[in-house]
Amino acid sequence: MSEIIISGGKRLEGAVHVHGAKNSVLPILAATILSGSVSVIHNCPRLSDVDATVAILEHLGCRVSREGQTVTVDSSTLDRCDIPDHLMREMRSSVIFLGAVLARTGEARLCAPGGCELGPRPIDLHLAALRRLGADIREKGGDLRCRTKGLRGTEISLTIPSVGATENAMLAACGAKGETVIYNAAREPEIVDLQQFLNACGARVRGAGSSAVVVEGGIPLHMAEYTVMADRICAATYLSAAAIAGGEIEVEGVPRSQLVLITDLFSAAGCRIRAEERRIWLESDGRLRSVPPVRTAPYPGFPTDAQPPVMAALTKARGTTVFVETMFENRYRHTQELVRMGADIRVEGRVAVVCGAEKLHGANLEAADLRGGAALVVAALGAEGESRISGLHHIDRGYADLTERLAALGGAIYRN
Ligand code: UD1
Repeated sequence: MSEIIISGGKRLEGAVHVHGAKNSVLPILAATILSGSVSVIHNCPRLSDVDATVAILEHLGCRVSREGQTVTVDSSTLDRCDIPDHLMREMRSSVIFLGAVLARTGEARLCAPGGCELGPRPIDLHLAALRRLGADIREKGGDLRCRTKGLRGTEISLTIPSVGATENAMLAACGAKGETVIYNAAREPEIVDLQQFLNACGARVRGAGSSAVVVEGGIPLHMAEYTVMADRICAATYLSAAAIAGGEIEVEGVPRSQLVLITDLFSAAGCRIRAEERRIWLESDGRLRSVPPVRTAPYPGFPTDAQPPVMAALTKARGTTVFVETMFENRYRHTQELVRMGADIRVEGRVAVVCGAEKLHGANLEAADLRGGAALVVAALGAEGESRISGLHHIDRGYADLTERLAALGGAIYRN
């Protein structure tokens, strides 16, 4: 069984270039089927979630090739509209294919998606949006059968600004006749990236980044070449690692505007931060202080995905920091492992109270989900002694070459 082995206490120094964003590349790859043409997607990181997405594209009949960080999808050969259960269960974002397949073929068959166990993750908003667009959806024992005689533009109001439901609605709306307006849309940068890719294919989508996204549907799409944006959550993870381990790092590739809440937090915790348009420098002596309550929220609020690594960084901060997780119920599974390292964390429902510990010590740890796994790596870099982390299939879903990148910064970390 593969493990990451970390001897904590080494300062991190140097620059790290952040790879392409997992949460952007997955919907963009799903969107490649809309054009029935060739899409060349650059900056696709080597992640197991990307492999799973490619497997779905291939199952659907697309021809996919990969060279380095570039994935080329030829969707002209798509000849299926079903996604088998084993591919759906690998990751939750596979549900994004629903809107795209439906728009392309008028039919889609798949089962309820998998992904991290973060509590109940319904897809009711996805289904309601597609129904508004004219899909007939039948659910039976976890199986979904969707058909349409033709999608029609409409107004969709999401009751929650769901990232996935916004993306699904955007993809389906590209194949609908007429204009669709998605109200209370998610405003995440990944939605903007998807809009830019769709427009590169010839679609007319506007408003992404605001809470109303407008899609003029029914326009034939064409070949496109696109570069995926950098991963802001990976950037937050590297900043967290340097904050707890101490040192001076430069994180390159992510617009600083996407990380303001993270850099403000580390600045309040006592780190020195400097930022240019797509570069952030963080200097830390490893002795942090607690910060005001951190409450996760949809963008531009504090990202729920950054909560676990940032919490890990603050386990040794002088004073008490309160976290309120408003997005996902089970997003504190890393806390029990952090406690085994000597952290003082009490969880009560959606609130976690972190009292700074004098020090953390190494331990044998198991990642329970993707960002929780990253939190264990962060904590182990700031702990005394050796930690061994298993459950790496979770971490591999969203971090490419994590051990190599941290080792290049001077961390005593390797993978066996
Ligand atoms: C995406 C991200 C994930 C991130 C999350 C929130 C991808 C591949 N994943 O997940 O990393 O943590 O955004 O930023 O992009 N909800 C419903 N009904 C629905 C859909 C969602 O009630 O039909 C609820 C969810 O349970 C959750 C909230 O809405 O409480 C937000 O979820 P959503 O934005 O949909 O997250 P994902 O798209 O699954």
